[in-house]
Amino acid sequence: MSRLDSVIRRLKAQRSCLNFAAGELTGQQGAILELGLGNGRTYDHLGELFGRDAIYVFDRRVAAHPACIPDDQHLFLGDIHDTLPAAAERLGRSALLAHCDIGTGVEEENRKLAAYLAQALAPLLAPGGLLISDQPIALPDSEAVALPEGVPANRYFIRRVVS
Ligand SMILES: C[S@@+](CC[C@H](N)C(=O)[O-])C[C@H]1O[C@@H](n2cnc3c(N)ncnc32)[C@H](O)[C@@H]1O
Repeated sequence: MSRLDSVIRRLKAQRSCLNFAAGELTGQQGAILELGLGNGRTYDHLGELFGRDAIYVFDRRVAAHPACIPDDQHLFLGDIHDTLPAAAERLGRSALLAHCDIGTGVEEENRKLAAYLAQALAPLLAPGGLLISDQPIALPDSEAVALPEGVPANRYFIRRVVS
């Protein structure tokens, strides 16, 4: 598969999974966590689905399209090892959805990051909340959710918090 095909597949998987989450969470109130602002593409899409006021963004820097930059109240700027514990103190277990798109190209680093995210996101995600990620994350007290049609296995991952 060419790198172009690979990027297209990733972006389509992201969009399908985020749209799926919006359908699952219709009518519920809670925070949306966007881990990895990057260019702001998925943040912008989440904004269309849930409204920007619900979204809290995590990144170590802001390098997004100018139209896709959250205000200071909705931005946790810094390394997630520092900002996720701070967010848990501020927001509590109020998140309906966490979308994690912060994997690196290095497998060993991804494994460490996923292990950290599993324990750091648990105090933020409400029961019934969804975790959508580019890496498998062994979130405690959660179950795997079937991927939307057209998303290849192991390209993206969805889990639901059971309790
Ligand atoms: C692939 S980009 C996100 C792309 C974004 N979802 C989009 O649609 O444009 C990954 C982002 O994660 C951020 N990131 C990676 N590791 C991080 C960490 N440990 N703490 C905070 N941000 C991190 C990077 O700075 C980068 O902006």
